[in-house]
Amino acid sequence: MTDSIAPTTAPRRAMPQGAMPIIGMGTFGSDHVSPEEMAEATIGAAEAGYRHFDCAEVYGNEFEIGRSLEAMQAGGIPREELWINSKVWNNHHAPQDTISACERSLENLRLDYLDLYLVHWPFPNFHPPGCSVDSRSPDSRPYSHLEFMKTWEAMESLLARGLVRNIGVSNMTIPKLKLLLADASIKPACNEMEIHPHFQQAELFSFLQSHEIVPIGYCPLGSPSRPERDRTADDTSDLEDPTIVSIAQAHDTHPTAVCLKWAAQRGQIPIPMSKNPSNYRANLRAILEDPLTDSEMKAISKIDRNCRLIKGQVFLWQGARNWEDLWDLDGSIPS
Ligand SMILES: NC(=O)c1ccc[n+]([C@@H]2O[C@H](COP(=O)([O-])OP(=O)(O)OC[C@H]3O[C@@H](n4cnc5c(N)ncnc54)[C@H](OP(=O)(O)O)[C@@H]3O)[C@@H](O)[C@H]2O)c1
Repeated sequence: MTDSIAPTTAPRRAMPQGAMPIIGMGTFGSDHVSPEEMAEATIGAAEAGYRHFDCAEVYGNEFEIGRSLEAMQAGGIPREELWINSKVWNNHHAPQDTISACERSLENLRLDYLDLYLVHWPFPNFHPPGCSVDSRSPDSRPYSHLEFMKTWEAMESLLARGLVRNIGVSNMTIPKLKLLLADASIKPACNEMEIHPHFQQAELFSFLQSHEIVPIGYCPLGSPSRPERDRTADDTSDLEDPTIVSIAQAHDTHPTAVCLKWAAQRGQIPIPMSKNPSNYRANLRAILEDPLTDSEMKAISKIDRNCRLIKGQVFLWQGARNWEDLWDLDGSIPS
């Protein structure tokens, strides 16, 4: 860590325990950013002022990122300044497995506690990441609220043990959240979900706000490098949208900055991923400087196209059209 430039860190949002910086860095490198490159980017990002990193066991890079977190602390950033998320993957939903997965993430990340631990997806499917679920396999199961509650009780026990400071969910829809809120002893602090100008999830967003659950927005730039992005039938990406482009021109900035300003001002926590120093520096600056006007915010609220990028093909069951339609409420499999 260098100490030549004093970084400007982002404001924070109060959470049940601690306070989360209002922008984080995503660390899912997929198959185009190696664990070492992602770990190097986190160091550079910390030097630039990032204090919030969104990790997960399934990203396959927690060991390397753990070395960076250690270096950040050795370089003078106190642990209390950092905000670290991790997530339990789908094959570790059995309560004892959830606990072991958390302990393993802590060991890899070289931490005594996580600031936020999430259930990555509400589906307990036993499949390797990236591979399709074989719905005929006895190991593949649809969503079941009763099973999810057992996972959630394990999450609550991690909180009680002090291994994690906040617990939350990811990719949860309103019907599943209603059941969870009715039965949980501790409500989820966050729902990490896909949010970008072409996929605003307005109904879910208001539901979360009304229950004081913080929305963390993934793919905040519309994930320009994902293959799903290219396959999207409807063409123009968020970054090419005429409304976003003209607002960017008015602010003499890049469309990515407009997406991030919109996200932060709307009240979600964006977690853009970048391995490129000039990009991750620009992303942090975007939410610290030069806010959008009310009329620009209103104009962006009108460009939603309900364009989901993370289609979750791995969760599709026989005959299902998409993962949201499936398994809500009773977990029944369509005939
Ligand atoms: N909970 C979940 O189920 C879930 C699902 C998906 C993602 N996530 C989390 O969300 C994070 C972000 O999602 P994502 O990576 O798919 O999408 P994203 O952040 O919308 O897009 C990342 C892409 O944008 C580029 N980029 C970043 N800043 C830029 C800038 N200023 N100018 C131009 N290009 C820029 C990056 O390239 P460069 O590296 O070249 O800058 C990278 O290819 C993930 O890393 C992960 O932590 C969570």
